[in-house]
Amino acid sequence: SSTAEVRGPDEDQGPGPALLAGDAAGEAARRRTFAVISHPDAGKSTLTEALALHARVIQEAGAVHGKAGRRGTVSDWMEMERNRGISITSSVLQFGYRDAVINLLDTPGHADFSEDTYRVLAAVDGAVMLLDAAKGLEPQTLKLFEVCRAGKVPIITVINKWDRPGKEPLELLDEIESTIGLKPTPVNWPVGIAGDFRGLLDRRTGEYVKFTRTSGGATVAPQEVFKPVEAAELEGVAWETAVEESELLEASGADHDQDAYIAEETSPLLFASAVQNFGVKQLLDVLVELAPAPAPRPTVKGDRRELDAPFSAFVFKVQAGMDTAHRDRVAYARVCSGVFERGMVVTHAASGKPFHTKYAQALFGRERSTLETAYPGDVIGLVNANALRVGDSLYVDKAVEFPAIPSFAPEHFSVMRAKDVGRYKQFRRGVEQLDQEGVVQVLRSDLRGDQAPVLAAVGPMQFEVSAYRMEHEFNSPVMMEPLEYTIARITDPDAADTLSRLPGAELMMRSDGTALALFLNKWRMMTISREHPGLRLDPLVGGA
Ligand code: G4P
Repeated sequence: SSTAEVRGPDEDQGPGPALLAGDAAGEAARRRTFAVISHPDAGKSTLTEALALHARVIQEAGAVHGKAGRRGTVSDWMEMERNRGISITSSVLQFGYRDAVINLLDTPGHADFSEDTYRVLAAVDGAVMLLDAAKGLEPQTLKLFEVCRAGKVPIITVINKWDRPGKEPLELLDEIESTIGLKPTPVNWPVGIAGDFRGLLDRRTGEYVKFTRTSGGATVAPQEVFKPVEAAELEGVAWETAVEESELLEASGADHDQDAYIAEETSPLLFASAVQNFGVKQLLDVLVELAPAPAPRPTVKGDRRELDAPFSAFVFKVQAGMDTAHRDRVAYARVCSGVFERGMVVTHAASGKPFHTKYAQALFGRERSTLETAYPGDVIGLVNANALRVGDSLYVDKAVEFPAIPSFAPEHFSVMRAKDVGRYKQFRRGVEQLDQEGVVQVLRSDLRGDQAPVLAAVGPMQFEVSAYRMEHEFNSPVMMEPLEYTIARITDPDAADTLSRLPGAELMMRSDGTALALFLNKWRMMTISREHPGLRLDPLVGGA
């Protein structure tokens, strides 16, 4: 069976829309492929759960044995995944909502924050920026936002935890606009201050959507819709305040404009309480109505691959040794055009060689499941993908190559040495492999020599992972020696002379030939830059 099939709300009254085989362009049009960017603890997991719950309840409500809103725990979802054909995994959550098929790609965060976190954003068509109402923009959100901006990924903003005391709504809007230059255009406005979340003023209809609390948000919060007059009677001052503030927004031009949103000048904004499942349906509606569907993807030639051209995809993530029983590599590829069918033989653009997709999978958490069909916007997992690298293109019939995914600003640096010099060959092979996978960047310099490459990573956990893999996968136990640099800039190779004489700085070469200047910190960099005005120092994507 296939977990890539998404069943519609009325599955028991006949097949949902996705079961009817569609053409690639038509299927693409109803895909919404996005990721949530947030700082740890803003509520990403809770929101993900709330979204899934919504999808499920909508499905159950239409089912013959409708038992809407009873379950809501993680273990139930695994059950749901099995029973309902919804794929809920650690990597991608796919579900049906209204006529749309939603693909929510996970951006690894917390301790496993890594280059992968960024790369996922190369595979989405939009992002949801989730903020904690009490905290506003936090560092990790800012980094991820920069990656979205560089990749031209349009953003919907959700202010979460409105059920708890937090900042003033207008203050949050100002903070977003002044910090990142993105103008929020609220879709709805909270009725009741943070900590007293009564409902939402729908700015498009002027109506009041009143929420009712359920125990712990285990079910979709029931909502009632009232006309403004009724709302005023019900909520008094809280409603009047919301109306006044909403009018203020209108006067300041903070209304939705689709082109400005797609151009990443503005961001539709919603208020929510993920834990109580308030405002989550509104987010789903906005995703369906406003978020972009997959579009023809630019190629290295400068043209675009049309959605109904023959199958094509690009690899945005490669994961090794996930399944301890079968130590293999899985490549995650996003479909860009055509219809993918399991068993297809596709061409690997980098080598020109055929790649067999007999073992294609829907993405998996603990369990793997076979995937049969996928359309533009969907993600496929390719097993035994030893030849596939991040950024690689795959195609059928008509050759295509998509641009490389940029590498991101490392902020952690560590020298790696073989414990046993006698195993240098194994050591070198391992380093090469890690470099190719791109989870760490491998930097070298004449000064340090080949035996002591410097690993550079977006998050420090990659060093632990790398050391573990060097020992267990490549039989080369290593020593790691962290360096104190925190910042990298792209520079010219001939800057080596200048930088080698200065304390708190160093020049190293990445294997793709890019010269990186490393600095202890921003201040050291700024001082050096002032003293050497000719020095090229270009920021990397996602960097401070
Ligand atoms: P993350 O994935 O972004 O790291 O965040 P996660 O969903 O794990 O949420 C972090 C904490 O914030 C959790 O509390 C969660 O319950 C809480 N939270 C998420 N959304 C909301 C919300 O809308 N309102 C309120 N009040 N809290 C929210 P925790 O104490 O870490 O765990 P738990 O004991 O509550 O499960």
